[in-house]
Amino acid sequence: MNTFEAIFSKRSIRHFKHEKLEWELISDILEYANKLPMLIEGIAVEFKLVSNIEEKQGFYSPFNVKAPYYICISSEEKEDYLLNAGYLMQQLNLYLASKDLGSCFSILSPGRNLKAAMKYKFVIALAFGKTSTALFRGSKEAKRFPESTVVVYKEEVTPDIRQVLNAARLAPSLNNTQPWRFVVYKNRIHVFAKKNPFIARVLDYNKAIDMGVMLANFLLAAEELWVDISLSKSETLKNKPLQKNDYVCTIAIG
Ligand SMILES: Cc1cc2nc3c(=O)[nH]c(=O)nc-3n(C[C@H](O)[C@H](O)[C@H](O)COP(=O)(O)O)c2cc1C
Repeated sequence: MNTFEAIFSKRSIRHFKHEKLEWELISDILEYANKLPMLIEGIAVEFKLVSNIEEKQGFYSPFNVKAPYYICISSEEKEDYLLNAGYLMQQLNLYLASKDLGSCFSILSPGRNLKAAMKYKFVIALAFGKTSTALFRGSKEAKRFPESTVVVYKEEVTPDIRQVLNAARLAPSLNNTQPWRFVVYKNRIHVFAKKNPFIARVLDYNKAIDMGVMLANFLLAAEELWVDISLSKSETLKNKPLQKNDYVCTIAIG
């Protein structure tokens, strides 16, 4: 299973064998992480591996997923750094699946010592390890909104672009909220994030990570299907007051 195939069939794994991984595999994962292309150039990030095999290493959170290993990302706090971090971590999430390892995003607060050991601001972690749970499922089994809820087609598009949008729709998100919305034209796609209710604006932090996760699926699928795309921001849309959504970016096709 490669990373593209994993987009359609990977599911989050929360139960792991408390088993050591071979060092070669761990170093391969770290090497992959450090070579990943950025969504936004000029934001420094650091990946940190945390092993829970020998001793508990200072994680605490009510959402904590218990796992033998975590890979954490810390980032410089520049514009769109959460989008960038989500984008990187989803690629890693899919790579772990391609190595037959289970994984799940985990919002956890690193303990003081671990926080201090990170170069930048901690963003999110991926819990991972060997598992006896099935790693994959059919894409139809994924609990996701139907295409009609998240995509508005303003013009007819090719089957490949539909497939890229399907890859994006299947992305994981915190509590499966699936905040992404798309307005689709033949040569461009406007990407929006559904607004949280006013009292839930604290969740905007995670929503930005979710949007980056989704963009990883989008860009990976586009590359696999030879759909030439580029990302930009429309100043007009950026400044347009919208009731239900926030504008994120525009993806030009071809
Ligand atoms: C940014 C992000 C944060 C997440 N945080 C957690 C978490 O803290 N604990 C957890 O159990 N699952 C977490 N998840 C996993 C989601 O709950 C999961 O992806 C979603 O319910 C869909 O399930 P699936 O991935 O099996 O399709 C997170 C996912 C994302 C993308």
